[in-house]
Amino acid sequence: MNKAVIPCGGLGTRFLPITKAVPKELLPVVDVPVISHIVDECVDSGLNEILIIISPHKEMIKEYFKRDDKLYDDLMRAGKTELAEQLRTALSKADIRFVTQYEPLGSAHAVSLAKDFTGDSAFCLALGDDLTVSDVPVAKQLVDAYEKVGTSVIGVQTCAGEDIVKYGVADVESTDGRYNLLKGIVEKPSLDALPSRLACYGRYILSDIYEYIDKICIGRGGEYQLTDALMLQCKHQKVYAYEFEGKRYDMGDKFGSLKADIELSLNRKDFGEPLKDYLKELVKSF
Ligand code: G1P
Repeated sequence: MNKAVIPCGGLGTRFLPITKAVPKELLPVVDVPVISHIVDECVDSGLNEILIIISPHKEMIKEYFKRDDKLYDDLMRAGKTELAEQLRTALSKADIRFVTQYEPLGSAHAVSLAKDFTGDSAFCLALGDDLTVSDVPVAKQLVDAYEKVGTSVIGVQTCAGEDIVKYGVADVESTDGRYNLLKGIVEKPSLDALPSRLACYGRYILSDIYEYIDKICIGRGGEYQLTDALMLQCKHQKVYAYEFEGKRYDMGDKFGSLKADIELSLNRKDFGEPLKDYLKELVKSF
């Protein structure tokens, strides 16, 4: 498998006002946009053919990934050779293509636009506002799980808190280690009707999905929902939820984004240590 699809739909209303002008996928973790981290996760997982699905008001994402020879020349002329090379290498790691979803018809509709790109092969779906950090990239963990089971695999983790109601939640038939065979998935269940505590966190390996997308009707919010297609797939084929290792941040949420900013910054070579000292001092003053 070498293909990944990154849908960048959604209006980013939880992150207004900035998302009025800047797509949430371009909001930075310090100096690198979320989407660039996700592309890196895919590339580090051996998925270097990438399709990004944008809406008409997210052309800026395309701009970000465009090779900029003028900037390269300007940086070289200014003696910033290392930075110039870094920017060029970052862009050359993946073959990135774009397709536009002209109407907000939902996640399943967005995925259906990837059909020409993926053909009948399985592919990774990485949602554009879920950032993951782990020793083995989460997409790679799921690719490996797919190699074992040969059918769709959904990345999940235990969500102990009340915000589980924001996610697709696994309805589990049986469990074997990190693998959970699914009866179904319930999209955004209420707290008193949780099928489990395993939340879908925006990473999937999808196999044979288009035949189920073709069969679903308009669902929640008047949109075609991927969860409905996966639910249907569970009824006809085996589908697994795989409990991945690592940390996931909800980058469409202001607090989630702030946590990622702080935690990823603490690991930076350039200012991780001074930031640690700064935070220690700051906490003392509370
Ligand atoms: C989507 C999916 C949901 C999943 C979530 C992960 O929801 O529909 O199943 O758990 O992404 O971030 P959304 O965030 O679009 O409401």
